[in-house]
Amino acid sequence: MQYRSFGKLGWQVSSIGVGTWALGSNWGPQDDQESVAALNKALDLGSNFIDTARAYGNGRSERIVAQALKSRQRDKVYVASKIPPQLPGDWPPGPYDSIEDRFPAKHVQAELEASLRDLQTDCIDLMQVHTWSRAWNSNPSVFELMARFRQQGKIRAVGVSTPEHDQYAVLDLMRDGLVDSVQVIYNIFDQDAAMQMFPLAEQLGIAIIVRVPFDESSLTGKLTLATQFPEGDIRGNYFAGDRLARTVARVDSLQHLIGTRAPNMAHAALQFALQPTAVSTVIPGIRSVRQAELNCAVSDQPPMSADLAADLRQRYWRRPFWYAGK
Ligand SMILES: NC(=O)c1ccc[n+]([C@@H]2O[C@H](COP(=O)([O-])OP(=O)(O)OC[C@H]3O[C@@H](n4cnc5c(N)ncnc54)[C@H](OP(=O)(O)O)[C@@H]3O)[C@@H](O)[C@H]2O)c1
Repeated sequence: MQYRSFGKLGWQVSSIGVGTWALGSNWGPQDDQESVAALNKALDLGSNFIDTARAYGNGRSERIVAQALKSRQRDKVYVASKIPPQLPGDWPPGPYDSIEDRFPAKHVQAELEASLRDLQTDCIDLMQVHTWSRAWNSNPSVFELMARFRQQGKIRAVGVSTPEHDQYAVLDLMRDGLVDSVQVIYNIFDQDAAMQMFPLAEQLGIAIIVRVPFDESSLTGKLTLATQFPEGDIRGNYFAGDRLARTVARVDSLQHLIGTRAPNMAHAALQFALQPTAVSTVIPGIRSVRQAELNCAVSDQPPMSADLAADLRQRYWRRPFWYAGK
C-alpha cells in the first residue's frame, strides 16, 4: 500500500481508503458480518483511512466501523465521519434553505455525540459537513461549531463534502481556511474537480478525498443492459430511465479504448482517480472481502501510462439536461 500526505495535518493516509455507504444503507441488502470482514481485509492490506457518515443507516455504518476496529490499535487508522443536514428537507439543500434550519447548533451537537457513541471513541479524526449550499458561504456558522468541537478535543480535523450538483460551492470555505479537507466526486466521467478544486487545494494545503471513483459501480464494467438493482438500491434511481443504457454504451466504448493498457476497467478507474497530485486518498465503496482485495491491490501497481491518462481525460461526460447526456 502506498501512502500520501493529508493536507497540512501531517497524516500519512493510504492512497486507497475505504468508502462505507453501502455498509449502512441505500444499496440493497448487505450482510453486517461480510461488511466487518471486508473492512478487516482492507485494514490488513494497509488501508488506514475509512469514510463513514451518520446518514449511512442512521449510524449503522459507524457501528460496523467500530466493530472492525475493536481489536486494533485505533491510532493507526484515520476515521472520517459526516454530520448530515437536519431533515426533513432537500438533499442536497435547496436554493432557499437557510443554514439555521439545516445545521442548527442543537442538531449538530446531537449528531456529533451520536457519532462518538456509535464509533465508540471520544475523538473522531475527521468530521465532515455532509453537504453544502452556496447560500451559506456568507454565514458558515456550522464551521464555528466544528472549530469548537476541535478545541474540546472531540474531533481532530474538519472537512466538507461537496454537493453533487454544485461541487464548487465549497471554494469559499477553502479560501477562508475553514476546512482541512474536501471530499469530491472525481472519476473518468466527472472530471470537473480538476479545473480549479485540485490546484486550489494544493496551493492551500487542503487534503482531497476522492469519492465515487466507480461512478456508483458503472466504471467497474459490471453493468449490462440486463442489470436490475434490488429494492432499496440507490442505483435503481441513479441509472433510471435510459441512463443505464447510455452508461453501458459509454463504458463499452471505454473498455475498447483501454484495451490491454490496464488489467481491467475497475483498475483503470481507480488509477485514473489516483492521478492528480492533489489527491490524498481515493475511497471506493467496498461490500466484500474480494472487493477490498481488488481495490487495495491497485495502490502498489505502477501508475497509469501518460498516454492512457491523456485519452481518458478526453472522456469526461456532461450528463445534465442541457447536454442531453449524449
Ligand atoms: N455526499 C457524500 O459525501 C458521499 C456521496 C457518495 C459517496 N460517498 C463516500 O464515497 C464512497 C465511495 O462512493 P460509492 O460507494 O457511492 O461509489 P463507488 O465507490 O463509485 O462504487 C462502489 C460500489 O462499486 C462496487 N465495487 C466496489 N469495488 C468493486 C470492484 N473491485 N469490482 C467490482 N465492483 C466493485 C460495489 O457495489 P456492488 O458490489 O453492489 O456492485 C461498491 O459498493 C462511499 O462509500 C462513501 O463513503 C460520500
